[in-house]
Amino acid sequence: MADVFTVLAKDHEEVKGMLAELEKGPTRATGASEEQLALRKKMAEELIIEESRHEALEEMYFWPAVREHLSAGDTLADTATEQEQAAKQVLTELDKLQADDAEFERLLATFITDAREHIAFEEMQVWPGLRTALNAEKAAELGTKIAEGKKTAPTRPHPHTPPSPGVLKAAGPAVAAADKARDAVTGRGAD
Ligand SMILES: [Fe+2]
Ligand SMILES: [Fe+2]
Repeated sequence: MADVFTVLAKDHEEVKGMLAELEKGPTRATGASEEQLALRKKMAEELIIEESRHEALEEMYFWPAVREHLSAGDTLADTATEQEQAAKQVLTELDKLQADDAEFERLLATFITDAREHIAFEEMQVWPGLRTALNAEKAAELGTKIAEGKKTAPTRPHPHTPPSPGVLKAAGPAVAAADKARDAVTGRGAD
């Protein structure tokens, strides 16, 4: 099984790919057709689903490990968690809007900038220290938990759920099941 850094890096690459795609447009302002706008909305939904799962799993498993194994762990985890909570607020608002709304583009642009900063923070400020601090066995164990958690992770941002591992582990499955039920009704995230 891949270690935690490989698992998270794969997610980051996927998200960065989605951001680049969305950045290309076209948008309403640059003359997108109705069909292109519908596709743009769908891509934003996919981004929100991927991002919600990723951050929830980091909050359940990754940040507790950072707090435990790094001397600056609490500061690093607090900074990153604040970034994640702010992003969830933006994505919650974005999820309510259609792609022909100017506010949709404003929120998306904010998210794109912040998400790239957040990913860079994790990869450059947090990962190097944790790579040194975790032995191979621990890194693999953490990777497995995160990879397997994907199936049951929430698919919506939930900015009002406290980002604490205990709360997420206790409430996560019910929240994720409710997300999936809503997704099924609306066809959100379906191919
Ligand atoms: Fe994160
Ligand atoms: Fe991340």
